[in-house]
Amino acid sequence: MLRVERLTKVFENSTDQIAGGIREASFALEPGTFFTMLGPSGCGKTTTLRCIAGLETPDDGVISVDGRVLFDGPMKMNVPVEQRAVGMVFQSYAIWPHMTVAENVAFPLTVMKHRRHTRSEIEQAVARALAVVDLDGFQDRPAPRLSGGQQQRVALARAIVHEPRLLLLDEPLSNLDAQLRDEMRGELKRLQSKIGITTVYVTHDQSEALALSDQIAVIDQGRVRQVGSPQDIYFRPANPFVARFVGATNLLAGRLIEADNGRGSVKVLDNRAIRCLVPGAIADPEAVSVSIRPESIRLVPRSGGPVRAGDNCISGSVRAVTFLGATRRVDVESDSFIMQVTTAADLPLPADGEVDLLFAPERTVALPGKVS
Ligand SMILES: Nc1ncnc2c1ncn2[C@@H]1O[C@H](COP(=O)(O)OP(=O)(O)O)[C@@H](O)[C@H]1O
Ligand SMILES: [Mg+2]
Repeated sequence: MLRVERLTKVFENSTDQIAGGIREASFALEPGTFFTMLGPSGCGKTTTLRCIAGLETPDDGVISVDGRVLFDGPMKMNVPVEQRAVGMVFQSYAIWPHMTVAENVAFPLTVMKHRRHTRSEIEQAVARALAVVDLDGFQDRPAPRLSGGQQQRVALARAIVHEPRLLLLDEPLSNLDAQLRDEMRGELKRLQSKIGITTVYVTHDQSEALALSDQIAVIDQGRVRQVGSPQDIYFRPANPFVARFVGATNLLAGRLIEADNGRGSVKVLDNRAIRCLVPGAIADPEAVSVSIRPESIRLVPRSGGPVRAGDNCISGSVRAVTFLGATRRVDVESDSFIMQVTTAADLPLPADGEVDLLFAPERTVALPGKVS
């Protein structure tokens, strides 16, 4: 539905020579997909979104929607923003306080140059959009007399009033407090699946990305580092950056000693071999990181607990225990490396602190590159 190929837009920063922007980003979305661009502040998410919207002219690449080319660098083709059939909610664009709800929502229709709308067409479209976001009858309400959540829904209604092919959302929940953000997150997901609109969502919040998305692109320093489902990104990260950015993880430096058909062994710590997944190419077998999520590790008393055949085992000593409510974090030292383990809050720990850490090869991933 949306295809982005080798999209590049670089800003030369005259003061410190560090160029921001996005480089050679490629992804393709099926119709109805909720797609999230996830990455730290300044990595190029907004730049990419503005290029798709037509607010920014890329240096190079191709953008098409439903086979219709919106931008083509080599062909020098660029469809203006008002003809791209996209709806947008941007972080900084609140709704206009001096207008009523209806005036806010109607705005995209009133500025369309290539298609004039009659008054009754506009009224009907506004009523339809407000119904979608459950604000029926709010037309005449002055914008300032709305709660934060309602204002957010008005912004969404405004983004969909002209029935765009594509919805672009740039950190739309970042101005809300934590509880409202959780609520709106659920609402946003329901709304998106209700109208089935292909959506590109931008956030720096990994839990938001995991909760909302069908597909996630993880971006770092202007480069797409991985595209995949939330499960792929979480359990089969492509590199140490993705592993660390999307949730807590243990990263052990090691040496790849065998790999075949997506599985292999890596020697870590005190020359111990552990079995793992090897999902991608490893250029340098001497520079490998192994990622194991804290909740993928089972903690048992040393040589005491039942060991599942095929599990990896690392022995260590408990160094710290942190109560977190539903769970507990246990730091275990092995060969002067601290492994983080998440356990049930009431799991008994051995008095001498000597434990074995067990983890399945399917939850252990070898990644290219040494941990920095
Ligand atoms: N118009 C611009 N001129 C110069 N630099 C820019 C411009 N827009 C963005 N940048 C730089 O590009 C980088 C990426 O910005 P942006 O896409 O807004 O990041 P994100 O949305 O991921 O936080 C930043 O370093 C930013 O300073
Ligand atoms: Mg941004």
